[in-house]
Amino acid sequence: MSKLKIEGGIPLRGETELQGSKNAVLPILAASLLAQGPCEIENVPRLSDVRAALEILRHLGCSASMEGRCAAVDTKGLCRWEIPEELMGRMRSSVMFLGAILARMGRVSLTLPGGCELGPRPIDLHLDAMRALGAQVSEEGGRLTLTAEALHGGTVLLRLPSVGATENALIAACLAKGETEIINAAREPEIEDLAAFLTAMGARVSGAGTSRIRVEGAASLHGARHRVIPDRIAAATCLAACAAAGGEVTVKGARQDHLGAFLAVLEKMGVSLEFGADYIRARTPGQLKAPGTVETGPYPAFPTDGQPPLLAACLTAAGETKFVENMFENRFRHVSELMKMGARAQVRGRVCTLRGGALHGAQVEAADLRGGAALAVAALAARGESLIGGLSHIERGYDGLAGVLQDLGARAFEID
Ligand code: UD1
Repeated sequence: MSKLKIEGGIPLRGETELQGSKNAVLPILAASLLAQGPCEIENVPRLSDVRAALEILRHLGCSASMEGRCAAVDTKGLCRWEIPEELMGRMRSSVMFLGAILARMGRVSLTLPGGCELGPRPIDLHLDAMRALGAQVSEEGGRLTLTAEALHGGTVLLRLPSVGATENALIAACLAKGETEIINAAREPEIEDLAAFLTAMGARVSGAGTSRIRVEGAASLHGARHRVIPDRIAAATCLAACAAAGGEVTVKGARQDHLGAFLAVLEKMGVSLEFGADYIRARTPGQLKAPGTVETGPYPAFPTDGQPPLLAACLTAAGETKFVENMFENRFRHVSELMKMGARAQVRGRVCTLRGGALHGAQVEAADLRGGAALAVAALAARGESLIGGLSHIERGYDGLAGVLQDLGARAFEID
């Protein structure tokens, strides 16, 4: 099992090119199922979750391949509508295929995405959305089957602005007969990117990026070419690394408009930021200040995926920081590992309180994707060497994290 070795305590200095967005490309790959012709998707990050999505497409009968960072999908051979448990279990986002398979095939069968890493991740909102478009839902022995002779437009009213449920509803509505309105939709930039891809395929979508999305269903959609937006969470991770380790880094491709709440906290901490047309440059002038209380919430609030890397950076800031995690129940699993590096922190339910101080290298284990990124950020700030296990979690979302950190001047290596 490979690990990430980081020799910390060295200020960063360098420039890196941002990967394409994981959370944008996964629903986009699922949505490619709607096309009657070939799709080409550019700026696709090389991640284990992307490989899992391509494998699901191939299992369904499509051709799906990756060359460099371009994915090609052709649905010509599409013939199956069920996803086996083994493929469902490989990534949590496999539920993104629900709306696309249902809309294209009239039925879909998949197992519940099991074994939760961030606490319970129910899919009731996804199922309610499919029901609102005319699907019948049945469950037997942990396997869900949804059927619909023909989906019809409808009103999808989401109790919470769930990203995944918004995406599933949006995808399915594109082939439903008539008009659909998604109310209390999630507003994440990845949803706008999905809508841009669907529009390129001939779908009629308006309001993506706002809490009210309208879709006029079409009888069929055609193939399209699309370039995935840059990954705002990977950008946040690089900026948090610069805050933690000090120095100056330039993140090319980073978009200020996608990172508002995160950047506001960094500035509060004393990180100076410069915004170019296609980059963000961060400079950490010395001792950071604790930002006070940081609460996660749906976009445009502070992103839950940015919480672990920022929390790691706050371990070096003077004063007390409080993180309130409003999105997922079990999202502080990195904290006990960070304590092995000298972190002074306490978790009570959804609140983590910490005080800045000195960190030292340690042997730690990533328990989930962004928690793994937090360990890397802390290791960059820590004196001495750290060994981070559980690299497979990190590879779900970061396209070559060791290489990115090397670009930024860090001594970071993948070792066996
Ligand atoms: C997406 C992101 C993930 C990010 C999360 C929140 C992808 C592939 N993943 O996950 O990285 O951390 O948004 O920004 O884009 N909920 C329900 N019922 C449902 C669905 C969700 O109660 O049917 C709850 C969840 O338990 C959670 C909240 O809604 O508390 C938000 O979840 P959601 O926005 O759906 O997250 P994901 O789409 O799973």
